[in-house]
Amino acid sequence: MDWDNQYRIRQTPWDKGAPAPPLLEWIKAYPEAINGSILVPGSGAGHDVRALASLTQSGAVVGLDISGLATRLAESFPRAHNESYLTGDLFDLPASQKCAYDWVWEHTCFCAIDPFRRDAYVKAVHEALKPGGQLLAVFFLNPYDDEHLPNGGPPHGTSLEELALRFEGSGKFRIEDSYIPRQAYEGREGLEQVMRMTKLV
Ligand SMILES: C[S@@+](CC[C@H](N)C(=O)[O-])C[C@H]1O[C@@H](n2cnc3c(N)ncnc32)[C@H](O)[C@@H]1O
Repeated sequence: MDWDNQYRIRQTPWDKGAPAPPLLEWIKAYPEAINGSILVPGSGAGHDVRALASLTQSGAVVGLDISGLATRLAESFPRAHNESYLTGDLFDLPASQKCAYDWVWEHTCFCAIDPFRRDAYVKAVHEALKPGGQLLAVFFLNPYDDEHLPNGGPPHGTSLEELALRFEGSGKFRIEDSYIPRQAYEGREGLEQVMRMTKLV
């Protein structure tokens, strides 16, 4: 997928113009829980980055996106608090981004990458987190089938079994919480799973 081109031609149907409802629901339920630094991989227009920066006790909140145009778009919004944006590849993190974060917020990055890169995704997020760091995620559970998306391509769905296998099975994470969020963008109701995991080793 040529992500820069998607932003250039403004084909960004994933951009709902607002933070992910399951993220807002989580912050409301656990207002004190998130502190320290946060990485948001595949941050797009940065709606979740700004929500995390303005609604939590976070330190630095960094949105990382492989598309320079996404970074520019995110930077065009008024600054919320302590957020910043980086153009870069999650699968090729510079040394400065390794063991650097207390939290990672995942939303529509895991489902956007090719499924064959999922173990590499687990490794990359593990590398970005400090020891004991937290991965907070909302995962798309099989959003489309062949009938609706005959040519394949993102979003690529997943299952609870696959998530447990990839994250816990790798020995890199322990799943602490897992639930279906009550709040969702229109059309995603019941298709998502929120998970919080702790980085091991
Ligand atoms: C489906 S979009 C979601 C954007 C944003 N999270 C949202 O929900 O609006 C996926 C994003 O991941 C970015 N992306 C894809 N592969 C990436 C990679 N290897 N490293 C960093 N970002 C990546 C894309 O440029 C795109 O902005």
